[in-house]
Amino acid sequence: MRVSFYDIKAQYDELQAPMDAAVHAVISSGNYSMGENHRLIEGELAALHQMKHGIAVNSGTDALRIIMDAAGIQSGDEVITPAFTFVASVETIVQTGATPVFVDIDPATFCIDPAKIEAAITPRTKAIQPVHLFGQLADVKAITAIAEKHNLKIIEDAAQAIGSSFEGKPAGNFGIGAGFSFYITKNLGAAGDAGIILTNDDEIATACKSIRVHGMGRERYYYDHVGYTSRMDEVQAAVLRVKLTKFDEWNARRAKLAAVYYDVLANASVILPITSPGNNNTFHQFSIRTDRRDALQAHLKERGVDTMIYYPVPIHFHAPYEKYGHGAGSLPQSELVAKQILNLPIHQHLTVDQVAYAAKAIAEF
Ligand SMILES: Cc1ncc(COP(=O)(O)O)c(C=O)c1O
Repeated sequence: MRVSFYDIKAQYDELQAPMDAAVHAVISSGNYSMGENHRLIEGELAALHQMKHGIAVNSGTDALRIIMDAAGIQSGDEVITPAFTFVASVETIVQTGATPVFVDIDPATFCIDPAKIEAAITPRTKAIQPVHLFGQLADVKAITAIAEKHNLKIIEDAAQAIGSSFEGKPAGNFGIGAGFSFYITKNLGAAGDAGIILTNDDEIATACKSIRVHGMGRERYYYDHVGYTSRMDEVQAAVLRVKLTKFDEWNARRAKLAAVYYDVLANASVILPITSPGNNNTFHQFSIRTDRRDALQAHLKERGVDTMIYYPVPIHFHAPYEKYGHGAGSLPQSELVAKQILNLPIHQHLTVDQVAYAAKAIAEF
């Protein structure tokens, strides 16, 4: 049996007729920039997360970068974030001129450990950027309490958390703004790059809309900010709108597959991921841990089961970011998890039988 890690084409196969129609409607209309789909996807995604404003952009990375600019994060500021994350969480901070300050993770959830945040706060700290990794929210209850106490902004890296919520409140509602990614492999993936900023803050929304298009203000060719070219393409907006019709069903399929892993691996000698209480986990990833990770990965490969390692090296060990960290041993949980983690196949086009087969191969190992 073959168990693929991703199957993007299967999404198209399931939605071929509406997808072809939506893409054809855009390219035959000649209306390629900030058209009807762009306007509608902003409203639809804001509604999905019960939020006031959606600002559709080019990528999740741009979403984070634009929120930071809108929030006035700049040189001399510090932003607290984990090092066990995708690099975009950190590069966007560095691009503003601010300094990323790394805080270790809770290995059970893979998200930033709130118990370690206060020790990292200095007079220069402007914001905390939790990363809602693998489909569940970081401990937003504890993080919002710390942010309020120290008068810090929260910027949510929700790139992997579309559809995720905590105590019924969707990702994005816990800070001044959140960046979401629709990179092709995400639970909701475009046919290329796309992202969105969701915010409940009117001023941040106005600034983000302007920064998205060169910092242009209400009038054409008059500028309020230094900005970027970061509109979401109309074709991407159209594709996302079609996929959104299946989004709940696709996440339900992922939940069902996660249940199979929990069931079959209940007594296996691997560490299973924990969804902390109150979280609605959308299982962007299903990540197990073992000290024999590389051997397990090879064992699974021989049996046709594809796996990935997100992430093999925490950010403070990469050359461009070493200077912001404190070397080996400074973030022990991030460093340990990077050596142990193995991401198992969980996409919506796998069957229960395929996942049971993968889980049995792990148990057998
Ligand atoms: C945690 C995290 N942050 C940010 C990003 C950046 O998103 P994008 O690839 O759309 O720029 C990603 C996705 O790739 C991500 O996983």
